Amino acid sequence: MTVHLEAKPGDIADTVLLPGDPLRAQAIADRLDDASCTNRVRGMLGFTGTFEGVRVSVQGTGMGLPSLSIYAHELMVDYGVKRLIRVGTCGAMQPHLALGDVILAMTASTDSNLNRRQLDGLDFAPCASFALLQAAVAAAAALGLTVHVGGVFSSDVFYDDTEAWKRLAAYGTLVEEMETSALYSLAAKHGAEALAILTVSDLIATGEALSSADREQRCTAMIDVALKVAAGAAS
Ligand code: HPA
Repeated sequence: MTVHLEAKPGDIADTVLLPGDPLRAQAIADRLDDASCTNRVRGMLGFTGTFEGVRVSVQGTGMGLPSLSIYAHELMVDYGVKRLIRVGTCGAMQPHLALGDVILAMTASTDSNLNRRQLDGLDFAPCASFALLQAAVAAAAALGLTVHVGGVFSSDVFYDDTEAWKRLAAYGTLVEEMETSALYSLAAKHGAEALAILTVSDLIATGEALSSADREQRCTAMIDVALKVAAGAAS
């Protein structure tokens, strides 16, 4: 048991899918065999079951770098989790991206001060696990899915008074979300592997967005890829 998780030691698999939304954790658990609930603290649902015979967990993280950091830290430090796969939504920063597109985050820029604070002012360059990224590219190809691989922008600010995202868009950054920089940095710190798989839920330039009903349906492809990666990585 930790401050935020009530799972018993051994209740959580080596590979954990991390949706921001706890209800998406429930929806992913519905895709697992023999899933049991491992966490209800703060309503941040977690489950462990099997996918294609391989033990997999899923744990909600909430929104933003600080909330994800708490869950990722406790999963790695207190439960020995080895692989963390974020599954979340994002806003497209490039005109060639469309609603529902799947993004594999190779690296994450950020406006957060989290790493500078932890690293005495240095800029750490967080990156995905190459093995997980390669596995996700292969899984997506096997499923007949087109994915975009590149950099993402992990921002502290959803309702932004500035257009700072345009600076990073000019450097080819694909999408904006709010967690990946912290996930990759913490995984590096703790010697674990991490990957963020994202679905485009809105287009920042136009404000066009998926409805909440469409959102869950359009997240299926991302979850298919994540489960395949989890099953392959752990076996
Ligand atoms: N910005 C940040 N996080 C997001 C967005 C966005 O546009 N869309 C979905 N998550």
